[in-house]
Amino acid sequence: MRSIATVLLASATSALAQDFSHDGNYGAPYPDTVYPGFESSNPVVIAGSKSFQTSPPKYPSPWGSGSGDWAAAYQQARAFVSQLTLEEKVNLTTGTGWELDRCVGQTGSIPRLAFEALCLQDSPVGVRDTDFNSVFPAGVNVAATWDRGLAYARGQAMGEEHHGKGVDVQLGPVAGPLGRTPEGGRNWEGFSPDPILTGVMFAESIKGIQLGGGVMASAKHYIGYEQEHFRQNAEAELYGFNVTEPVVSNMDDETMHELYLWPFADGVRAGAASVMCSYNQINGSNACQNSYTLNYLLKGELGFQGDSATYDSGDSFFGANLTVAVLNGTVPAWRLDDMAIRIMAGFYLVERNTTRNPINFSSWTLDTYGYEHYYSGTGWTQINEHVDVRADHGSLIRSIGARSTVLLKNVNNALPLTGKEKLTAVFGNDAGPNIDGPNGCSDRGCDNGTLGMAWGSGSANFPYLVTPDTAIQNTVLAAGGAYESNLDNGALTTMGALARRANVSIVFANADSGETYIEVGGNLGDRNNLTFWQGAEAAIDIVAGNCTNTVLVVHSTGPVLLEKYANHANITAILWAGIPGQESGNSIADVLYGRVNPGAKLPFTIGRNRTDYGTDILYTPNGLVPQVNFQEGVFIDYRAFDRHNETPTYEFGFGLSYSSFSYSNLRVTKMNVSDYAPFTGHSSAAPTYGNFSMSPAAHTFPANFTRVPLYQYPWLNSTNLTKASSDPHYALPGFIPAGSQNGSAQPIPKAGGAPGGNPMLYDVLYRVQATVTNTGSVVGEEVSQLYVSRGGPYDPVKELRGFERLSIQPNGTATFTVDITRRDLSSWSTVEQDWFVRNSTKTVFVGSSSRSLPLQAVLV
Ligand SMILES: *[C@@H]1O[C@H](CO)[C@@H](O)[C@H](O)[C@H]1NC(C)=O
Ligand SMILES: *[C@@H]1O[C@H](CO)[C@@H](O)[C@H](O)[C@H]1NC(C)=O
Ligand SMILES: *[C@@H]1O[C@H](CO)[C@@H](O)[C@H](O)[C@H]1NC(C)=O
Ligand SMILES: *[C@@H]1O[C@H](CO)[C@@H](O)[C@H](O)[C@H]1NC(C)=O
Ligand SMILES: *[C@@H]1O[C@H](CO)[C@@H](O)[C@H](O)[C@H]1NC(C)=O
Ligand SMILES: *[C@@H]1O[C@H](CO)[C@@H](O)[C@H](O)[C@H]1NC(C)=O
Ligand SMILES: *[C@@H]1O[C@H](CO)[C@@H](O)[C@H](O)[C@H]1NC(C)=O
Ligand SMILES: *[C@@H]1O[C@H](CO)[C@@H](O)[C@H](O)[C@H]1NC(C)=O
Ligand SMILES: *[C@@H]1O[C@H](CO)[C@@H](O)[C@H](O)[C@H]1NC(C)=O
Ligand SMILES: *[C@@H]1O[C@H](CO)[C@@H](O)[C@H](O)[C@H]1NC(C)=O
Ligand SMILES: *[C@@H]1O[C@H](CO)[C@@H](O)[C@H](O)[C@H]1NC(C)=O
Repeated sequence: MRSIATVLLASATSALAQDFSHDGNYGAPYPDTVYPGFESSNPVVIAGSKSFQTSPPKYPSPWGSGSGDWAAAYQQARAFVSQLTLEEKVNLTTGTGWELDRCVGQTGSIPRLAFEALCLQDSPVGVRDTDFNSVFPAGVNVAATWDRGLAYARGQAMGEEHHGKGVDVQLGPVAGPLGRTPEGGRNWEGFSPDPILTGVMFAESIKGIQLGGGVMASAKHYIGYEQEHFRQNAEAELYGFNVTEPVVSNMDDETMHELYLWPFADGVRAGAASVMCSYNQINGSNACQNSYTLNYLLKGELGFQGDSATYDSGDSFFGANLTVAVLNGTVPAWRLDDMAIRIMAGFYLVERNTTRNPINFSSWTLDTYGYEHYYSGTGWTQINEHVDVRADHGSLIRSIGARSTVLLKNVNNALPLTGKEKLTAVFGNDAGPNIDGPNGCSDRGCDNGTLGMAWGSGSANFPYLVTPDTAIQNTVLAAGGAYESNLDNGALTTMGALARRANVSIVFANADSGETYIEVGGNLGDRNNLTFWQGAEAAIDIVAGNCTNTVLVVHSTGPVLLEKYANHANITAILWAGIPGQESGNSIADVLYGRVNPGAKLPFTIGRNRTDYGTDILYTPNGLVPQVNFQEGVFIDYRAFDRHNETPTYEFGFGLSYSSFSYSNLRVTKMNVSDYAPFTGHSSAAPTYGNFSMSPAAHTFPANFTRVPLYQYPWLNSTNLTKASSDPHYALPGFIPAGSQNGSAQPIPKAGGAPGGNPMLYDVLYRVQATVTNTGSVVGEEVSQLYVSRGGPYDPVKELRGFERLSIQPNGTATFTVDITRRDLSSWSTVEQDWFVRNSTKTVFVGSSSRSLPLQAVLV
């Protein structure tokens, strides 16, 4: 059970934290699971293979200092918070309650200062639960572009749309799940199982949302949230599982630092105003009360200056309980002040103070009139103004869709097509519409028609969805060809007959996944398999069996096994198009007909076999408290394939172009930087802002105050604190974690000292350059990649450390440049609790994919 003190003292908008039954429980011992290929390994020395991991208590919760780019925002936040009463501070930290206001999360307001409530709204692909918004390509598509500029532009456009709807905090982007298992239901919301690619895209998205779009980003979900099954025990019970607590992700300290925490460091360094905790437990302690991950790692080591929000705090640990906890001495005044300051600092950081719009939509209905306080059925008024916030984002969405489409196979230049093929035939449910409309299933919770977006709270309502059938037909008719389509995977005989007549057959197939509150076809969020949905396999077989020029287009949330199709003589081309958003059909047509030359690369490995990944979802509980052991450590995706010497169908980083590229002239320049120095400073003592009466009588509801039914208010309904709290465990002894109330100056971790960690980690140690030549006949874009071998006995064979998407004219060249930082070459020392550069031979590799690396050099 989460307790009030634990939650409040560990998280940031929350106050003090502890629960001796969990946080501070040194991790439930779990049995060693040995994955294929690890049998002979010494489990003690391989990162991630260690058992008996712990989540030790870490208090006090660090108070924000305004370091890095946060100085001005902190100054303003301190000035603002200094004027606030106790209740006003509590209001800032507290959600009014589920469905009680228009946004999916909405805080209290401060009427005395005309400060409107903060509006927190899903999702990472657009404004959720409204209309006249755009649906952007999913995170996994952004990763497939490997294009920083597109990630920023998408972030900015999404931020602008949230801003236009009156949203203060966009609940995204996502770096957790990272993608430990390819079946993971929400992997597509994030970017890639590679922490570097994810870290870059996460940071660019945050900068786009905040600096470009002018709203706060909520970097989520922190941390270890790698499967949907059993993420919440109550939800698991509804599906008939006997589970009493959320699933536990057990991972060791090296795996935490070198894999899962890495992109969050980039997100914090990019200025993320807010971080959202996750549903799961980490090493035996809930993510939203875990003092180790929140206090020590996030606010200590990563120097996070913003707030960590649980967007629906309807569990009422806040509100009056927080006021009581301050008055009874459980939560120090400085802790509450820190919460309020962190929230307001994020607000000023993105300059919400200059440009706020009123909230002009309701998450709970698209009707124009309805209840302002939906769940309590009060406040009938106009709640939707139907503001069109899309601007010209459709063209950006189309461009990202095309530029995230990976060309995996192209025999004898089967692509691009011209449109003048005499008969073009398109096949598959995935090429057509959902006959119930693009939003026919709530939160996209079905797989009908083409897969433009996956399901769950990470989706948004389509303003329209251009199907492949429509867009391809438009192109073919304009070019003078004939066109027929068969969008029914059940009609195999007629499909075969059409394919026999066609000059080119384009068959669409998909695989969906999502968030586990919705079940689709027996998939509880996580996919049950890595094969196609909608009966597409039979359709592909029939079409390819009857047409020697068959093109396969895949819409999927992650890897789908393609070995059979890669080797099929009649399948002349394969494209992976991900989940591209509202312009889906136009994006794929742009690539098929060469209006866009594909340059995307796979952001994950497509293995030959599911078992080759070495990781899987825990589908059946292994106890009342399900335990998932991250026994593979950092060896996920290509790191696992390399380690076990598995040949994938298509490797991480792979993707073809209508042109071709060569690599030459590798140059390494050693930079002159000083040696690493562990951070040594201390914080100041915890500051407090403003005074208030400690008398309960000063904090009861104002006379004649009209309450919204069910609202969480900051005021007490009794001068008796026990009554006002109504906490059945009120004043239970031994409730306050040791050190949690200590507001004296605290040491800052060696690896800390600034947002993102010790600034010296980002010193550039080497600059690596190579020449990339376009050896083909058309202008093209090439994602050049740099990998590093850190050279330790248990390090991955190689790890991505740099990339750049270069546009190059035919016969032209471009220079690929990567600055290799100290962090890029470092390993995590669990003993020193700091990064160090191992005394080992470091090698850099440069090329076009993780398995095509023609250039290499040893770093000296
Ligand atoms: C808003 O905050 C920014 C950043 O801290 C500051 O530069 C600006 O002056 C503020 N504007 C107003 C109107 O308060
Ligand atoms: C707290 O927020 C609620 C809801 O917006 C508002 O009605 C109330 O007046 C606020 N309380 C204070 C002390 O500002
Ligand atoms: C759940 O498992 C526990 C322990 O094995 C058992 O005592 C209990 O009866 C089970 N509950 C249900 C509903 O199956
Ligand atoms: C839509 O999908 C659901 C399952 O996801 C399925 O039961 C239903 O038959 C589909 N409807 C149509 C019209 O294809
Ligand atoms: C071609 O299509 C027909 C149905 O029209 C089907 O019976 C046959 O098996 C297909 N051929 C191959 C080689 O798959
Ligand atoms: C894989 O899962 C999908 C979706 O539930 C299902 O349609 C398909 O039949 C499954 N494939 C296999 C081979 O079981
Ligand atoms: C390829 O298509 C032709 C029909 O055009 C068919 O005869 C042949 O069997 C197909 N090959 C495969 C491997 O299905
Ligand atoms: C996949 O694994 C199964 C079982 O281990 C094996 O029989 C099969 O040959 C493998 N397929 C490929 C394409 O490697
Ligand atoms: C509360 O309302 C009553 C009746 O409207 C009024 O007489 C009284 O003065 C009000 N009290 C306060 C403190 O505003
Ligand atoms: C305070 O928290 C306890 C424990 O969650 C809960 O039972 C109680 O209702 C809360 N009190 C208020 C006023 O929200
Ligand atoms: C203080 O208040 C909090 C919130 O209601 C409660 O959980 C806690 O038990 C109280 N502690 C003491 C010592 O009264």
